[in-house]
Amino acid sequence: METKIIPINENHIDREALRPAAEILASGGLVAFPTETVYGLGANALDEEAVQNIFKAKGRPSDNPLIVHIAEKADILSIAAQIPKTAEMLMDAFFPGPLTLILPKREEISSVVTAGLSSVAVRMPVHPVARELIRLAGVPVAAPSANLSGKPSPTEARYVAEDMDGRIDAIIDGGACSVGVESTVVDLTGSHAVLLRPGGVTFEQIQAILPDAEIDRHVLCQVTAIEKPKSPGMKYKHYAPDAEVTVVEGEEGKVHERITHLCHEAKKDGKRVGVLSMGKKHYRADCVLSGGTTSREYAKRLFSALREFDKRNIDIVFVEYKEEGGMGLAVKNRLYKSAGGNVIHV
Ligand code: TXA
Ligand code: MG
Repeated sequence: METKIIPINENHIDREALRPAAEILASGGLVAFPTETVYGLGANALDEEAVQNIFKAKGRPSDNPLIVHIAEKADILSIAAQIPKTAEMLMDAFFPGPLTLILPKREEISSVVTAGLSSVAVRMPVHPVARELIRLAGVPVAAPSANLSGKPSPTEARYVAEDMDGRIDAIIDGGACSVGVESTVVDLTGSHAVLLRPGGVTFEQIQAILPDAEIDRHVLCQVTAIEKPKSPGMKYKHYAPDAEVTVVEGEEGKVHERITHLCHEAKKDGKRVGVLSMGKKHYRADCVLSGGTTSREYAKRLFSALREFDKRNIDIVFVEYKEEGGMGLAVKNRLYKSAGGNVIHV
């Protein structure tokens, strides 16, 4: 299959250029598109066969459910069976935006989308290209991140092409994603709100609206083996580049000292060494990339950095991390997963 690349400027959306992509979606094809978080791989959520093709294209386990994307708040009524007051409050505050709500599903929503669960994930992206595409398609759009299963999520169209070229019908190139990590997932099916995945909306922001919200204990699990996760995605290997990743966490000076030592040892073993640093630091490594100084910057650069290390044939990556609130939780969660539990506290 030939994958068409469709460039669209998010500030001046050319509807005529976007329309063919919407038609592909409406007629059962697969289209990757930009959102504010990461690129999504979309299919008509009401077309079971199209949704099944998402799982095939990604190599995604069929027990990991998809998020249904909508263009207008009111569209949630055709996806979720009940909208509790807590959902209304979060929607008023954060829709459109990087927040996904888990709600009881309507019967019409296929169990292929929800992987057999009685709940469904719903999100209304704020990215103008994503919203216009969904609007033009005229259907809700099921979309996971547009990477091969297990790889870092793509934050630019060229990363989508690396994984998906020849596997899907089209990729809309709308430039780099501004948030860089996926949406925050909040489960509203229980007695109180539970954060299942930290993301573009911080836990502090959720708590400001729902003070009794909690963080699921698996969010900061260092190991990937989880017995009964609430979010099926939690139990799979994630965000992993080909290089081995080790996170070194703690006070800045100590982290620098330890990574300097680790680089030295790895070089002695003949390895090609990479470092992802917070701010600009000097290391004797084959490739040093800066994640920026704030956790927002770090979030934005994280996935592209992990992919760049692979392009430069790096064998082992050491990642600097310092505990922070806000977006720090989302960064930490992704780092721990990409490291598959390889975390050193100093
Ligand atoms: O920012 C995002 O959310 C991006 C963009 C494209 O919107 N999408 C995304 O999708 O990250 P995906 O499939 O890579 O991650 C969706 C997560 C998975 O961890 C999945 O297990 C969880 O949401 N999920 C989906 N439906 C669920 C449900 N009914 N209950 C619990 N977790 C669910
Ligand atoms: Mg994903």
